[in-house]
Amino acid sequence: MSILNILYFPDPRLRTKAKPVEIFDDALRTLIDDMLETMYAAPGVGLAATQVDVHKRLLVADASEDQDAAHVFINPRIVARDGVCVHDEGCLSFPGIYEEVERAGQVTVEAQDGKGKPFTLEVSGLLAVCVQHEIDHLDGKLFVDYISELKRGRIRKKMLKQQRQVS
Ligand code: NI
Repeated sequence: MSILNILYFPDPRLRTKAKPVEIFDDALRTLIDDMLETMYAAPGVGLAATQVDVHKRLLVADASEDQDAAHVFINPRIVARDGVCVHDEGCLSFPGIYEEVERAGQVTVEAQDGKGKPFTLEVSGLLAVCVQHEIDHLDGKLFVDYISELKRGRIRKKMLKQQRQVS
């Protein structure tokens, strides 16, 4: 397994719309393992393939405290939403940035597992927030798109400054 490079905002590749996964082979399973390892190492509760510059509809998530409840969603689709939840969200592509975002409190997701087998899962709480956030990534959408343009501009400046200091 290996740790993958994460793209940081405002990298334009984060705006790519991912394509459906059609082939469920060993390369896909290696990608899933690497994405899980990358998410746990960060540490984060979710990671979309878009964030590691792979533009396929695939995400991993683990909202448990002990990092022992890994979920893999391939070609995920939200088929039902219920309730409202406001959560202070972060994102591995935005180190140190947190903003409140309003989303559905409970969602039903249809997806496929690493072998292509379809499943339906109803999720709530942090995992529901996470799944909605990660599916947005697959559509090139970011959590800062929910806040004001002014705030987004400030975050963009802050991120560019951080990146200059690192490189
Ligand atoms: Ni994110």
